[in-house]
Amino acid sequence: MRKIGILTGGGDCPGLNAVIRGVVEKCAQAGIEVFGFHDGWRGALTARGHWLTLDEVEGIQTLGGTIIGSSRTNVMADPNGPSTIKDVLDALGLEGLVAIGGDDTLGVANALRKLDINVIGVPKTIDNDLSCTDYTFGFETASNIAMEAIDRLQTTAKAHSRCIVVECMGRHTGWIALQAGLAANAHLVLIPEFPKTYDEIISLVRRRFLRGDRYTIIVVAEGFELLGAEDIDIGTDAFGNKLLLHKNLARNLSDMIERSMQSDPLLGSDAQYFECRPVVLGHVQRGGAPCAFDRVLGTRLGIKAGELVVNGDYGKMVAQVGTKVVGADMETAVTVRKEVDREFYEAASLYFK
Ligand code: F6P
Repeated sequence: MRKIGILTGGGDCPGLNAVIRGVVEKCAQAGIEVFGFHDGWRGALTARGHWLTLDEVEGIQTLGGTIIGSSRTNVMADPNGPSTIKDVLDALGLEGLVAIGGDDTLGVANALRKLDINVIGVPKTIDNDLSCTDYTFGFETASNIAMEAIDRLQTTAKAHSRCIVVECMGRHTGWIALQAGLAANAHLVLIPEFPKTYDEIISLVRRRFLRGDRYTIIVVAEGFELLGAEDIDIGTDAFGNKLLLHKNLARNLSDMIERSMQSDPLLGSDAQYFECRPVVLGHVQRGGAPCAFDRVLGTRLGIKAGELVVNGDYGKMVAQVGTKVVGADMETAVTVRKEVDREFYEAASLYFK
């Protein structure tokens, strides 16, 4: 009897359960059993998990989160990590492993691949920043959640003639901020790929105020860099990623804008009442049920990963390219980041006014 393992690592993401279901279903067709490791690489290091049945995965593509749990445990942080994984796979009789994750989780999968461990990667991240795939599931759901939030913030900002600074996830790239901001008519979107100075930001708020548009919605991706600002130590996770929520980006920007506007003598006496509010969307963007696109993309990627297992075609990452789901190069996927390009950002900038 052939057997494989599966795990979900890193930040959870709507669509993970669809992938698990696809892998289990496709493997079951070929008589392959699937062991679901609990809590990502943490479970794979300690042999913690359970055998997944068709009954258990029935209909789970509708659910957010992941039925096998996730963590940010880094196998490579311990020199014995890779050999421990190998021992666990051997002890359970697993011929290989399907790792569903973003750049960190797939970075580990890629390192294990180079050590001759059979792995298949499935790209996952709401940030949409993995290359070799047009989209990562979770991004569409997260962008829609952010868009709906910004739609709501528009009306309250307008009612109070306020500036609202909305912080979206996106530690290296601004895909969610730009997608949601453009869709919901934000007046400015700030993303890591295109750093700006404070002067560029405040001049837009002033311009709007002076022409009678007294409210402003600014969407900022958490990894945005304010040119000239001091870099503060905010701590890192097990993979060395900065803990960006600790940076209080939205709050700091919001405070700076409020202070500048209230003390600007050229804006007239009304400006002393100008207020600014920060809103951090945070993990709301990752929670809840996946949208149709993510359910279907997750399902297709899961089935493809299952197909690669059935064929013993290890060492690849499954990906969406155009309308097709294919096996792609894992090395490129984890070493080259997919960023928002200048053309897209400049097109969106037409509406930054
Ligand atoms: O990896 C995706 C992501 O959602 C990032 O956008 C964000 O910075 C990070 O996860 C937050 O991670 P955690 O859930 O560990 O706080």
